Amino acid sequence: MKVVTIVGARPQFIKAAAVSHALRRASHTELLVHTGQHYDDEMSAIFFEQLALPAPDYNLGIGSGLHGAQTGAMLAGIEEVLSKERPDWVLVYGDTNSTIAGALAAAKLHQRVAHVEAGLRSFNRAMPEEINRVVTDHLSNLLFCPSQTAFDNLAAEGITVGVHLVGDVMADVLQRTLERARESSNILKRLALKEHSYLLATIHRQENTDNLVHLRDILSAFNRVEETIVLPIHPRTRGALARLHGPVTLRASVRVIDPVGYLDLVRLAQSARLILTDSGGLQKEAYWLGVPCVTLREETEWVETVQTGWNTLAGARTDAIVDAVASFRPATTRPLLYGDGRSAERITGALIAT
Ligand code: UD1
Ligand code: UDP
Repeated sequence: MKVVTIVGARPQFIKAAAVSHALRRASHTELLVHTGQHYDDEMSAIFFEQLALPAPDYNLGIGSGLHGAQTGAMLAGIEEVLSKERPDWVLVYGDTNSTIAGALAAAKLHQRVAHVEAGLRSFNRAMPEEINRVVTDHLSNLLFCPSQTAFDNLAAEGITVGVHLVGDVMADVLQRTLERARESSNILKRLALKEHSYLLATIHRQENTDNLVHLRDILSAFNRVEETIVLPIHPRTRGALARLHGPVTLRASVRVIDPVGYLDLVRLAQSARLILTDSGGLQKEAYWLGVPCVTLREETEWVETVQTGWNTLAGARTDAIVDAVASFRPATTRPLLYGDGRSAERITGALIAT
């Protein structure tokens, strides 16, 4: 079996690491296409290195741009690769512009598309990711869902063929990496942090970065929290910070650092007292690690983390964020969510069998 895998953004390098290893272990041919959507070393190269992801066979070098220009350039570049390689499957992950470009290029060439992390919905079409997911799901021949909710969302849109409930590949990677992160990352020492004595925060969603009022309200909340907050900053957010009118002066206890590699991120997350984030991946990682999460959005696709009492939605509302940090206490039980860490094997099995 020959598979072309399309990746481009940080979360996709993590997700692809799970399936890529499973495919190669089973002696299938996988060609990796990096669109170039994320290109800084700390947003890209470090993940290939730390997760032993093979070097891309093609790097399209597309880089940053407006949605249409970026997605269009990817579409053209991916079409060329797929026309030449003619794979049995085109594998796409998640909900980024690289995902929709890969799915659309393949569908137009009548090549079969498999979507990992299918069926997620925020029901908020203002999010670029929601558009990417809906279109990708409707173009896919195989749809791998991380949750029953995702499976049901697809059924509600009439997608019932080729849908598999397999769990979340990020759980596979986290399980494999936990011990290594604890042993090899020295980030706590580098930042002089004690276990469970700080909060970890990430912000990168368009709704919280392009909307400077939201960004200012979130940072005002961070300034009112007395505990140390470690904020590895996404390049998009660094850019937005620079554009803030009357820049918010952050207290010294808000420690803005460059984006960190996966091992440092896992180490920081596992020892945080609480996580504040608008990231999809980090909401799940918080749950798996047993760390309470305050989500800086008004809705989440990972509704089970809220239903089980480990995640609360505070949006970009300053008071709600401050209150949640002070008073949110997670539930005493934490049922297994999003699979058992063997999702990649199920995905590989379904690709072979279909
Ligand atoms: C993208 C995805 C988002 C995902 C996120 C993961 C889309 C529409 N969005 O958002 O779903 O959650 O990745 O992190 O695909 N930049 C750099 N260096 C880089 C990459 C980006 O400086 O290596 C800066 C550029 O100014 C760029 C901005 O960040 O314009 C945004 O990057 P982009 O890839 O367009 O979107 P993300 O916000 O990263
Ligand atoms: N991550 C990382 N370093 C960071 C921030 C995030 O390694 O500085 C990891 C983390 O595991 C997270 C994943 O990257 O789950 C996904 O990235 P991001 O939050 O950018 O995207 P999303 O999951 O929201 O699409």
